[in-house]
Amino acid sequence: MRLLPLACLAFVAACSPAADQGAANQQGEKGARLVASVLDSPDARDTQSYARPLEARVTHVALDLRADFDAKRIGGTATLDVEAKPGAKAIVLDSKGLELAEVTDGNGRRLSYSLGKADPERGAPLTIDLQGARRIRIAYKSAPEAEALQWLTPEQTAGRKHPFLFSQGQAILNRTWIPTQDSPGIRQTWEARIVVPEPLKAVMSGERLTPEGEPAEGGGRAFRFAMNVPVAPYLIALAAGDIAFQPLGPRTGVYAEPATIEAAAAELVDTEKMVAAGERLYGPYRWGRYDMIVLPPAFPYGGMENPTLTFLTPTFLAGDRSLVGLVAHELAHSWSGNLVTNAVWPDSWLNEGVTSYFENRIMEALYGPGRAAQEAALSFADMESAFAELGADAPGTRLHNPDETTEGGSSGIVYDKGALFLRTMERTIGRERFDAWLRSYFDRHAFQPMTSALFLADLRSNLIKSDKALEKKLMLDEWVYKPGLPANAVRPDPKAFAPVDAALAAFKAGGAPPAQLWARWTTAERLRFLNGLPRKLPQPRLAELDRALGLNGSRNAETLFAWLQLALANRYEPAVPAADRFLTAMGRRKFVAPLFETLAEQGGWGRPIAARIYERARPTYHSVTTGTVDKTLKGSGG
Ligand code: BES
Ligand code: ZN
Repeated sequence: MRLLPLACLAFVAACSPAADQGAANQQGEKGARLVASVLDSPDARDTQSYARPLEARVTHVALDLRADFDAKRIGGTATLDVEAKPGAKAIVLDSKGLELAEVTDGNGRRLSYSLGKADPERGAPLTIDLQGARRIRIAYKSAPEAEALQWLTPEQTAGRKHPFLFSQGQAILNRTWIPTQDSPGIRQTWEARIVVPEPLKAVMSGERLTPEGEPAEGGGRAFRFAMNVPVAPYLIALAAGDIAFQPLGPRTGVYAEPATIEAAAAELVDTEKMVAAGERLYGPYRWGRYDMIVLPPAFPYGGMENPTLTFLTPTFLAGDRSLVGLVAHELAHSWSGNLVTNAVWPDSWLNEGVTSYFENRIMEALYGPGRAAQEAALSFADMESAFAELGADAPGTRLHNPDETTEGGSSGIVYDKGALFLRTMERTIGRERFDAWLRSYFDRHAFQPMTSALFLADLRSNLIKSDKALEKKLMLDEWVYKPGLPANAVRPDPKAFAPVDAALAAFKAGGAPPAQLWARWTTAERLRFLNGLPRKLPQPRLAELDRALGLNGSRNAETLFAWLQLALANRYEPAVPAADRFLTAMGRRKFVAPLFETLAEQGGWGRPIAARIYERARPTYHSVTTGTVDKTLKGSGG
């Protein structure tokens, strides 16, 4: 860990002190804030941010904001602490659509600023003349169309009585409501005071200092939060609405709307054990509490690893805990992603691939090697689909992918090939030695940015050392920098799904759907079956499957999705009402975007159905989801 005291000019990478373990989640001496250094190598330069952190950088963000649900704006002040090179004239921040009122220094003196030309993705640089100031205060409002924020009407919530607001920062959306340097390699501590109308509650991804809130001048209730260790700014997150809380264990709990809290708590009973398993594997959980919030169904992702407060889609509530791999995943990001963070998005495999591997180890620790092997085999199949789609040697199949500037690329590569790289290392090196290295990697780099090159350098200096034979066996550079699948990749256990694969063969040979087996299968087994079916099936065979397995009525979102993908690709009319219900009931992009794409591929049959459903569903979706679907349906009235 290299946490720099304020006195050290943290933008100079060379001034990093030696590793110092243990004091991670405490504030520095006498309230001095912890500052993490910024990398200065060319591969750590973020093309998606206008910031020039080696000249002047933000170290701390203090927000004082009020949420206006009628105007769909959040506004107030952001006070930024700045470290700058001696003589630095200006600091450059990221901003997108912000309405600026004024900028002052710590003493209320006006500072001049200019807003540069806006780019549709990155927004506009906000350059502020420092005039020697090391604290700047920006008075501003977000725009009603701020992409990070979704303002839900009461009808879009489970309770249907109160509005709801949530934010989604990753990858480069937080600049639509927070004027700061929005780059994952520029870590910042933060604090916030958020005012929301009565009787709503606000929660954020930091220590929740006033759980019940306090009366606010001018009406409403104010909620205060703090994050005392430096985090990447995409991890600042807010939710506000009619929110209840239920404890799950000593340091875990769940927030949700009152109508959802019971189902959420039941699904999440194993969370405390997951945290303990994570710690046994890879070292201390350094964030204090691990709480989650189950959001309304418009949340565009499965989960988002906001520190101390994972955001979750309600579509993982299956009633049988079959989809809690999602929770293991978001929890694992407390190490890979939040503690050690990709400095730039083309290295997002360092966040998502390492996390997907870690997720599987947590699942193994809680539910045994059988379930973990099945989930690893599903992940391997997802990776194979990605290779099939992109081309086995396409540039998009590289883990370090300089072309992918925000999300890092296909999930089959970033997540699944990334996880397989670690699984292959584990097998080659031996679990005990590999685990010891990974644990020490998190310790050495806690609260610091990471690149592919630094990852490999750490592995070489701390594990491989001079073992030439091991170096050769691992094929590290090929895994990280080359397209395709390296020859040493470990294959999934062929027996993981043996009975399912036998049932698939029987069905493909003309047999009846395996109704009795299906009734006893786990969700992973059902998914293996559905995804293993031939992609082209005649109507009578689809009808048999539907009837025997109750597919259109499936209440498990992953199963329903897998079925609808197959059914719609074959123009199976009886699946249309189920697709309509599903697509208008939630906005998770992973489900929504592929289903619309499948419909769009079915030209004269599917496009009108897609257009009809999208017209009603679009206003309920988050910008992350509409951004993707709009591209698919352009020209079909969507
Ligand atoms: N950090 C991601 C979500 C994300 C990725 C947001 C890229 C914005 C850009 C999160 O941890 C994640 O991976 N979620 C997955 C679930 C997981 C089990 C694969 C999801 O949302 O489906
Ligand atoms: Zn993730």
